Amino acid sequence: MARTPIIAGNWKMNKGTAAAASALAQEVVTAIEGKSGVTVVVCPPYTVLHTVREAVTGSSVVLGAQDAFWKATGAYTSQISGEMLKDAGVTYVILGHSETRGRFGVPEPEETVKHYGETDATVNLKVKAAIAAGLEPIICIGETLDEREGGKTDLVVSSQVAGAITGVTSEKALRLVFAYEPVWAIGTGKVCDATEANRVCGIVRQTVRSLYGVEVADSVRVQYGGSMKPDNAAELLSQPHIDGGLIGGASLKAADFAAIVDAAA
Ligand code: PGA
Repeated sequence: MARTPIIAGNWKMNKGTAAAASALAQEVVTAIEGKSGVTVVVCPPYTVLHTVREAVTGSSVVLGAQDAFWKATGAYTSQISGEMLKDAGVTYVILGHSETRGRFGVPEPEETVKHYGETDATVNLKVKAAIAAGLEPIICIGETLDEREGGKTDLVVSSQVAGAITGVTSEKALRLVFAYEPVWAIGTGKVCDATEANRVCGIVRQTVRSLYGVEVADSVRVQYGGSMKPDNAAELLSQPHIDGGLIGGASLKAADFAAIVDAAA
């Protein structure tokens, strides 16, 4: 089955002023104009969603967000729900990013992890709530360096996939996007070898297949994320199990982001 590649820019906590967000969004719109056969998403910080929505309206760039809480409304100080994002014009939402799980690719004090507190169970609640709100989740999974060196990569990845989608119907599962992001490759410049990235993205698909069967497994899109740049994107994106990229650093420069979109198109 032909899957449409999906390139998503995760701006993280960058370009968070209206001026900076608007400028980058407009540059992205211009840089990807006329490119077809690929879904292009930008995920700015919450506070500039409105600004970016205005900048991308009328273009093929789709608005995304970086997280969503699992309750729709209520006494949950600081949280943002899927309903709120939908109303703000958001289509895709990143869930279970290693940074919201407190698993940083770059050294951070161990005790900071508890301030994030994301688990497979909370990611699952968020996935189901986002689907119920009419959003399209991009579910992040990936192993830390310790887990890779301990030979646990496949187990970590398959259990994160299964944990995230428990209770999702096959009809909804068909549309899911996964992002395999080895934690040690995020923001470090250490990209995962393309053959190995393809193998692990294949494990994501195999896990979906064991839970939902071949039709759903062939339909879900699996991105690679972690130091994807213009110079390594073509090799990664030519792998059979890699259907796109979740791009951090390189999504902050329109020309680099557009070059990755070109590699996918
Ligand atoms: P990076 O980030 O491209 O800067 O490594 C990817 C991500 O965290 O989604």
